[in-house]
Amino acid sequence: MRFLTTLLIFITLDSFAAGENKCGSLEKCDEYSATVHDTYSLQRGLGIYMNYCSSCHTLKMQRWNRLQRDLDIPETILLEDLITTPDTKASDFMSFGLPEVSPIGAPDLTLRTRVRGEDWIYTYLRTFYNDPNQPSGTNNLVYEGTSMPNVLAGLQGSQELVGKGKLKQTTQGTQTKEEFDESMRDLVNFLAYVAEPARVTREKNGFFVILFFIVFTAVMWLLYREYAKEIK
Ligand code: HEC
Repeated sequence: MRFLTTLLIFITLDSFAAGENKCGSLEKCDEYSATVHDTYSLQRGLGIYMNYCSSCHTLKMQRWNRLQRDLDIPETILLEDLITTPDTKASDFMSFGLPEVSPIGAPDLTLRTRVRGEDWIYTYLRTFYNDPNQPSGTNNLVYEGTSMPNVLAGLQGSQELVGKGKLKQTTQGTQTKEEFDESMRDLVNFLAYVAEPARVTREKNGFFVILFFIVFTAVMWLLYREYAKEIK
């Protein structure tokens, strides 16, 4: 009984993990649950990350060669297009030549998806708006007063605040709303992958383990039935 209570407490605590995932001025974040099994989506997410995020945020716990293996990236593309800093080997961590501590306070993003949650990151990336009172000229619904500038405005267009928690698009970006949301899903999928690269195999194996248990239980139940007949 005590074991069950302890287990229940852990499960409950887990659903409120880290407590950093409240959704700022929004009542709740837009729901999104990342998938790490669509390799093309992860590759597109990596592309966006390289173009829009890697100038400020490191991925210090992810190695280039692990990324290459998991995302099916040809070695020539890895060495010629992705690794752009000199003296970086395929076995090095993805720090993009950035300093150990970011001078502008941009955190390492390897594990942020685990801390904040996928919903939070997905909503955060889509809710930047113009705010002349901020040093960066932009603010965010989810993370009010964030010092991160709206680096995705070129894709999304600009947004203005038109009421509590409500945004209106004022200029057009290069992507439509649907395309931009899709791009952000790719990016969150990629971030969820780097937060736990083993998740790809874990979830695939998990399916077979559960299947094995079901088949094994069925076989054992049939065996039990045979034995039970003899006991009677
Ligand atoms: C110009 C530099 C810069 C670029 C480019 C940039 N960020 Fe940021 N980002 C920051 C800074 C600075 C912060 C810290 C904000 C704060 O704490 O106020 C931040 C914070 C964040 C956070 C919140 C982290 C947390 O849990 O507190 C996330 C998530 C994030 N960035 C994702 C991204 C993604 C994804 C991209 C690429 C699309 C990106 N950033 C591009 C500077 C940048």
